[in-house]
Amino acid sequence: MKHPIIIDTDPGIDDAAAISIALNHPDLDVKMLTTVNGNVGIEKTTANALKLTQFFNSNVSVHRGASHPLLSDIFSASSVHGESGMDGYEFPEVDASTLSSHNAVAAMYDLLINSKEPITLIPIGPLTNIALLLTTYPEVKTQINEIILMGGSAGRGNVTPLAEFNIYCDPEAAHIVFNSGLPLTMVGLDVARSSTLIHAKLEKLKSLNDTGRMLHQLFSHYRGDDFEYGINIYDAYTILYLLHPELFQIVEARVDIETTGELTRGATVTDLKSAYPNCTVVMGIETDIFEKIFFDALTYCK
Ligand code: BDR
Ligand code: CA
Repeated sequence: MKHPIIIDTDPGIDDAAAISIALNHPDLDVKMLTTVNGNVGIEKTTANALKLTQFFNSNVSVHRGASHPLLSDIFSASSVHGESGMDGYEFPEVDASTLSSHNAVAAMYDLLINSKEPITLIPIGPLTNIALLLTTYPEVKTQINEIILMGGSAGRGNVTPLAEFNIYCDPEAAHIVFNSGLPLTMVGLDVARSSTLIHAKLEKLKSLNDTGRMLHQLFSHYRGDDFEYGINIYDAYTILYLLHPELFQIVEARVDIETTGELTRGATVTDLKSAYPNCTVVMGIETDIFEKIFFDALTYCK
């Protein structure tokens, strides 16, 4: 059976890798892409989502979401992903009329409430849209199978010593999602850091297929890591975890979101020994296994 999923995203170079796999994998049924302010502003993340659906000639709908975090000021990652958010590959101009709606939260509600089967949410950007969905329409919770999100860390952060980007951008939204009571999996920085894709392996992308060439060009402009050594394709782990959960090391843990600390705002405070877990935390995967499932998944792409 195909997994029905919604990807909530802020493309984003590693988002592009996750979306490429998801749109083409035979075991996944992407119901829609919803966009959020994150790596770059909402107009750019939405245009980037459309560039990807257009690249794959996909009819998956794209819905524009929140342009601003719930309370935080906007914090951009254009220094990492480039001015466009997906620098490095010349996509054709997008046809803006192909955007399906300007209200991602309402679109998710309509889809979920009318769905005959529960749907899995895959947020790979700040959690603003998901928090708005759960607070505006709490009745959709029974229609959500689980949430598998990229964000947070059981250890150190990547924006501040303790906060990871997606959580740091909108800690109040993350607090709502982590306290929603829904089955939740945190695919944080830990798992990608355990299995960095080294440069020599990235070179293989160039001869894989058109998608491999497109991703290779994006990755070579990705400033989050040192391309000459290798990179962490954080968002792709959510999709790979959904496809192969048995290959990952996990811990049931209590994750609370720090919203007030002057130095720690946005931290995912992870108690690996709590008697009251609210979350599955994905801690690692063998590098060789990650490489294999990543490249295998990309072979379904054009
Ligand atoms: C996360 O932050 C963004 O820059 C990436 O797209 C990913 O979702 C990693 O911290
Ligand atoms: Ca992202």
